[in-house]
Amino acid sequence: MQALEVNYLGLALKNPLIVSSSGLTSTAERIVSLERAGAGAVVLKSLFEEQINMEVASADYYNDYPEAHDYLSEYTRQHSLTQHMELISEAKKKTDIPIIASVCCTTAGEWIDFAEKLQDAGADALELNIYLLPLGKDTTTADVERAYLEIVDRVCRAVTIPVSVKLGQQFTNIPATVEALFYRKAKGVVLFNRYYDPDIDVDNLTMTGAPVFSSPSEFRTVLRWLAICSALVPNMQYAASTGIHDGKTAVKALLGGATGVEICSTIYQNGMGIIPHILQTLETWMVKHGYTRVEDFIGKMNYAGLKDPAAYERTQFMRYFSSLEK
Ligand SMILES: Cc1cc2nc3c(=O)[nH]c(=O)nc-3n(C[C@H](O)[C@H](O)[C@H](O)COP(=O)(O)O)c2cc1C
Repeated sequence: MQALEVNYLGLALKNPLIVSSSGLTSTAERIVSLERAGAGAVVLKSLFEEQINMEVASADYYNDYPEAHDYLSEYTRQHSLTQHMELISEAKKKTDIPIIASVCCTTAGEWIDFAEKLQDAGADALELNIYLLPLGKDTTTADVERAYLEIVDRVCRAVTIPVSVKLGQQFTNIPATVEALFYRKAKGVVLFNRYYDPDIDVDNLTMTGAPVFSSPSEFRTVLRWLAICSALVPNMQYAASTGIHDGKTAVKALLGGATGVEICSTIYQNGMGIIPHILQTLETWMVKHGYTRVEDFIGKMNYAGLKDPAAYERTQFMRYFSSLEK
């Protein structure tokens, strides 16, 4: 029997598989089923900063945008904060796995006072899904990065539970951002968040959304930055997210430096049975390669082993295309 336990964000997980923030974790019954299927931890469906502010400050928050106001009113009604706290305490009572709360936020605003309540309700950690899409031409890169750091700094001062940050890929220097987050006391980063992407229906000339589920090829960017960041900022803890659909990819995430492996689309598409399947593939791989503990091979294939990562990347880039040009 292989030892699958890992320590992620200071939490003891029976295995590295974490169910990502989504509707999959929006009720205690589903969380119980995910635990039974073998999940090592779950991240709850995100509360939105606007939702928190709205409930706290009453309904005139989005008055200038009636559509957003109506949507938020409805969203708030369905997902009231009290209900959310009850979900946390019920999930804690009914399961033994870590329950990670999640807030989707854009500012270091008044919602942060509420973070402590998530902790009081029993959340074991807090994952911040920071969604900042810079749309103003006068906003500089430094402004955007400062906004991330300010949110993380304030949240980490407000709670004692570990905080992780679910990042998007759009940073000029991802390792530098990860290191700056580490110095603001974030315990972990999730690489990467998968944002809503727009699309156009050319027949009806309407704006639509791109597919909500990931494809396995999206994992490649995750693997690159996991392997680079875990080598350059080794004291940070990493969870991989986006494009992990099977056991082999979960093994790659661990080899690249992830301690937590977050999955979402594959559960929606294949059902909860994919969880034991991924764990079985992981164990079989460990037996084949002589590993008894997962913790012994986390980061084994990251960039720490490369003498000159820049030269390596450049050579791979050249080889990649030249192989087709002979
Ligand atoms: C239906 C659905 C709902 C989601 N809701 C949230 C959410 O509330 N908060 C969040 O941080 N991510 C949310 N996500 C993103 C997932 O947590 C995950 O990061 C993304 O799907 C990429 O992982 P995957 O490739 O395993 O699907 C959602 C994804 C899906 C498909």
